[in-house]
Amino acid sequence: MDILGIETSCDDTGVAVVRFNNRKPFFVVLSNIIASQVEIHKQWGGVYPTLAKREHQKNLVSVLENALKKAKKLVLFKNKKNIADIGKEKKIKNILSRETDLRKSLIDFLKKYKKPRIDAIAVTVGPGLEPCLWTGVNFARALSFYWQIPLVPVNHIEGHIFANFLSKDFPADFRKIFPAIGLVVSGGHTQLILIKDIGKYRVLGETRDDAAGECFDKVARILGLGYPGGPIIAAKAGKFAKNFASELRLPRPMLNQGNYDFSFSGLKTAVLYNYNRQSKEKRKSKLYVKEMCFEVQQAIAEVLVKKTIKAARDYLVKSIIVGGGVAANKELRKKLRRSVKKEISGVALYAPDNKFCTDNAAMIAVAAYFNFRRGEIKDWKKIRAKANLKL
Ligand code: KG4
Ligand code: ZN
Repeated sequence: MDILGIETSCDDTGVAVVRFNNRKPFFVVLSNIIASQVEIHKQWGGVYPTLAKREHQKNLVSVLENALKKAKKLVLFKNKKNIADIGKEKKIKNILSRETDLRKSLIDFLKKYKKPRIDAIAVTVGPGLEPCLWTGVNFARALSFYWQIPLVPVNHIEGHIFANFLSKDFPADFRKIFPAIGLVVSGGHTQLILIKDIGKYRVLGETRDDAAGECFDKVARILGLGYPGGPIIAAKAGKFAKNFASELRLPRPMLNQGNYDFSFSGLKTAVLYNYNRQSKEKRKSKLYVKEMCFEVQQAIAEVLVKKTIKAARDYLVKSIIVGGGVAANKELRKKLRRSVKKEISGVALYAPDNKFCTDNAAMIAVAAYFNFRRGEIKDWKKIRAKANLKL
């Protein structure tokens, strides 16, 4: 079974083709194409939704073309004018009535290439930025209608969890890992989830304000380091840790509260106050910036690790699975590994490859596979984007 995944919930335009086999390897990523909008959003220090929507519209058809080509599923029509499909053109225009920049390029594409051998189309319906989600959803609806291929809606958070299934070391017998604690940490989300089985979730806690990745991004903006902040802060923190010991001390928000919730906006404010107190020279000093990066990373990682371990212990789970852009953070992974070994040895720890931590469409296709098997297929007419979709 081959699934085409589509992801446009934030600032990455992703299309992937994932194959599902009955024997090992169960999941093969035939293609996973991403058009990043980092260069566009850099100047804002964050994602600007209407700009992001426009970029998704510009990128989607070429990303789809590349993904199908890489998966060897792109076949040209012999005679260019496909008369039987002219009636469908009107409908496509209707479906994409709000995606005017996307309409023409998609119609040209559909006239040029044959229907690909795909068994289902998966699309992120939420949570995420509403205008961005709608672009992906309407694109998927148009393809599903035109090619008559079943459409499977996917929750973005579930996608981040399922990214783990693409790791080589993931157990062949998936169900063995449950119950598990899922830690999803990204630019938009920070959640601790009790995963009783595939499709059976209970959100134990989440951030009350900013997400962990958002905190990395905002601190990077205060320090004038660029966007996205996470990887830049991690690199600077690593350089500091090698040579120095930190004298700076930032708060560890909600660390000792006996719940599974988080709060990161106060941490960002603490950085801002500290920064504003310094002289102009000190603010620009490389050592100060590196020390701040180190301390922020420590604070975020310590809180995430402590609460994840607590949840794993309280719920007697068999494993911990992490996902989302911040899960690519090496210090977080190291701290988690150490704490699991020291405090709850026997619990397995899984994390996706870096390329499957940040937003991508392969993880959406994997999540869709399980939804599809449960019969969660939606008529293209009925599928909707839901910015606040819950697990
Ligand atoms: O999952 P993702 O691509 O998008 C969302 O769904 O939000 O996550 C992006 C976030 C950004 O905030 C970025 O700064 C953060 O993940 N990030 C990192 C690292 N790589 C990306 N944070 C810390 N360390 C990293 N290595
Ligand atoms: Zn994400």
